[in-house]
Amino acid sequence: MSNETVRGDAFENLLREERQFAPSQEFAAVANVHEEIYAEANADRVAFWAEQARKHLTWSKDFTQTLDWSNPPFAKWFVGGEVNAAYNALDRHVEAGLGDRVAIHFEGEPGDTETITYADLTERVKRAANAFEALGVAKGDRVAVYLPMIPEAVVTMLACARIGAIHSVVFGGFSAEALRSRIDDAEAKLVVTADGTFRRGKPSPLKPAVDEALSESGHTVEHVVVVERNKQDVAWTEGRDLRWSEVMDSASPEHTAVGHDAEHPLYILYTSGTTGRPKGILHTTGGYLTQCAFTHSAVFDLKPETDVYWCTADIGWVTGHSYVTYGPLVNGATQVIYEGTPDSPHQGRWWEIVQKYKVSILYTAPTAIRTMMKWGSDIPAQYDLSSIRVLGSVGEPINPEAWMWYRGAIGGNTAPIVDTWWQTETGAIMVAPLPGVTATKPGSAQVPLPGIAVDVVDEAGNSVPNGHGGFLVVREPWPSMLRTIWGDPERFKDTYWSRFEGTYFAGDGAKKDDDGDIWLLGRVDDVMNVSGHRLSTTEIESALVSHPWVAEAAVVGAADETTGQAVVAFVILRGEADLPTGEDATDAIVQTLRTHVGHEIGPIAKPRHILVVPELPKTRSGKIMRRLLKDVAEGRDPGDATTLADPTVMQKIAEDLRN
Ligand code: WTA
Repeated sequence: MSNETVRGDAFENLLREERQFAPSQEFAAVANVHEEIYAEANADRVAFWAEQARKHLTWSKDFTQTLDWSNPPFAKWFVGGEVNAAYNALDRHVEAGLGDRVAIHFEGEPGDTETITYADLTERVKRAANAFEALGVAKGDRVAVYLPMIPEAVVTMLACARIGAIHSVVFGGFSAEALRSRIDDAEAKLVVTADGTFRRGKPSPLKPAVDEALSESGHTVEHVVVVERNKQDVAWTEGRDLRWSEVMDSASPEHTAVGHDAEHPLYILYTSGTTGRPKGILHTTGGYLTQCAFTHSAVFDLKPETDVYWCTADIGWVTGHSYVTYGPLVNGATQVIYEGTPDSPHQGRWWEIVQKYKVSILYTAPTAIRTMMKWGSDIPAQYDLSSIRVLGSVGEPINPEAWMWYRGAIGGNTAPIVDTWWQTETGAIMVAPLPGVTATKPGSAQVPLPGIAVDVVDEAGNSVPNGHGGFLVVREPWPSMLRTIWGDPERFKDTYWSRFEGTYFAGDGAKKDDDGDIWLLGRVDDVMNVSGHRLSTTEIESALVSHPWVAEAAVVGAADETTGQAVVAFVILRGEADLPTGEDATDAIVQTLRTHVGHEIGPIAKPRHILVVPELPKTRSGKIMRRLLKDVAEGRDPGDATTLADPTVMQKIAEDLRN
């Protein structure tokens, strides 16, 4: 825990929100779930989840015990059960006669499209499963996935799940360095990548990063399968590299899925924590799929026969795992997958896609909503968005203005908005309104889902009364909870279960308003949230000090109107370093350091501002006072600095910034 405290005051005005939007009678009457679901779950939480598991999944072997919590915090859900994720996402829909239903409407960045039915997708996954097995990938082996938002990403994930291999998807925006550390930590045997993708109408490479990540010996990777997406020339390592098309064409389209133990690992997904090293969050099969499928159905009110669902998240983040690959396909949904950015070739691209496919459920992040709000309502107004009936938000707190704009400009003032709070670690949605039940409130995620024991507690771990703030915790195990940190069970216990004994500590500040509704107030640890992407201050600091010019670095997330937070770095340079000189020296230094962070972590981590300072504010015990730096970065007077070892430091920094 850092010295950051929950800064509720800034949010006081939010808590006076009095607007509420009750579901319409028409919506409520045909909603997937009703008010009673809360009472049902409260009566017997564990039995409630057993019922959801049997309702939403087809088990190869039924489970004998719903929850084993005899060795906390290591949970086992659906003990004795066997289930295959790919069978549930694919084969069973085909067997039920739904093979012709569209699973994926793919919209490529350059405008190429593909319509993939459940029958097509099943065949592709079967081929990929055979192909991966032929390459020596066996149950329990790790497969690194470094792909753009193309159907092959979904195919690869499901093929791994089918054969019991553990996928580890690495966001395509991460650098070769970041990829290397993730490949090494998981000891991946296979990497699946693409020559590249397209960004703003131009080819953008991916494979060179894989080559660079594998350039040193000592890794465990035997093969790299390369999807030919942008058809650019790429370097080729004979024997190691294989073309996706060749591998798939020669593989058999027949493959029988067998059930895997409910607790068999499904995937690892790395996320930023409070220390420099990303954590490999481990999710297992039965519980994860149960909560993904249940929440996707209940929170979005999915009607698989008629809805067209679109989640704009990239497969590289947990939202792309739970609400692109697993939840929607297990529920037999028809969904849109889009490769590109919202503003290319024009700022109406998303709305053009909504109109074209008649998207009825849209799930995106506040940062995108705020950006589009800035572009102006007249852009979405040029398109027919009348198909939209549910809107979702995820990744960061959504401010009431953005919420109201989303409802009006995109939802036609009728579509309910579900603000969903969850994390990579929780695996699936934990706090959200239910669109046919809850009267929604702009800016609040509101209520824990049925069967989920979320609370807000004070420093001592006591539940706070309504009208007060504290820390968000989860008091009882839940099906899609992370099971451990890959290779580091001690870190798992320390990070999440030691702040409040026996209770899951999420790292978020929260308040309960007078109605008991939950408002998320942002992280209380050293994790930043930039455009809904999680970044660690320490990880960026480590990247900066790995540059020979930098003696010390401190990074803070400064409030930003559009991206939520922006990365601001304060650096002290080495006196003896061979630094650029001349008039533009500072600019040159800052540029070099930004590029260096991009190289170490990825473009998303590049600081918006780097300030070269003579000293950093530290306590007498040597701890950097990030709170003071944050004040400076956000243009506030840092005020009382008497606890600093050298109380004049802040003055020096402020003077320096004025110059
Ligand atoms: C933040 C993304 C407010 C929060 C699914 C959390 C939110 C972190 C919301 C997890 C929300 C996510 N309102 N804050 N609706 N959803 N967050 O692991 O700080 O990428 O801890 O998972 O995002 O980010 P992650």
